Amino acid sequence: MIKAQQINHYYGKEQVLYDINLEIQKGEFIALVGTSGSGKSTLLSILSTLLKPTSGTLTFDNLPYQKIKNINTFRKEYVGFVFQFHYLIEYLSVKDNITLATENQENKYLDELLKYLKIEELSNKLPNQISGGERQRAAIARALINKPKVIFADEPTGNLDSQNSQNVFALLQEVANQGTTVIVATHDTELAKMTDRICEITDGKL
Ligand SMILES: Nc1ncnc2c1ncn2[C@@H]1O[C@H](COP(=O)(O)OP(=O)(O)OP(=O)(O)O)[C@@H](O)[C@H]1O
Ligand SMILES: [Mg+2]
Repeated sequence: MIKAQQINHYYGKEQVLYDINLEIQKGEFIALVGTSGSGKSTLLSILSTLLKPTSGTLTFDNLPYQKIKNINTFRKEYVGFVFQFHYLIEYLSVKDNITLATENQENKYLDELLKYLKIEELSNKLPNQISGGERQRAAIARALINKPKVIFADEPTGNLDSQNSQNVFALLQEVANQGTTVIVATHDTELAKMTDRICEITDGKL
């Protein structure tokens, strides 16, 4: 469903990605692993259309990136994001955070998601009234609410303990089992073993 070919990326004069070729199938759960500065976030940003690569081609279900007519519509249908820091808005309830970016505020899917992520009891609380793991589950709910085809998660367990980290990965695995493609960047090689495929980046090379 996503095909990256001969991707190179430079920040100014510094090359950080070298000839990346990667094909990702629908429903696949993939880990990008590598040490700090190896290029994980850069590659994730490119695969999710947030960053334009210096050279190379990217296709989504055979649609070349250049042929996408409306990038905002495309992103809305295609991609959901989960970040290391949850980025929930502190003065909005969990529920309002999740539905913030949806058109239909009376989203029926919301109740299903809250139950699925075991946060239905917390939906009216503020982010600072719940735990780190719960906040990250709320962030995953926010990424899932528009039913995107792909979830991109950049160090989603970066500030969680090992039990909560495993829970987040188990949840992402379940999401992938339901047909959503999940691409996660992590430096944790143990957690990465919970995915279907591990892609290692070393100094910008896959
Ligand atoms: N906006 C930027 N401008 C210039 N250089 C950057 C920028 N973002 C990242 N870099 C550099 O590109 C390289 C790859 O960075 P990237 O953030 O992709 O690595 P990473 O694997 O995600 O690291 P970490 O595990 O620390 O998050 C690093 O050398 C970094 O310093
Ligand atoms: Mg990073």
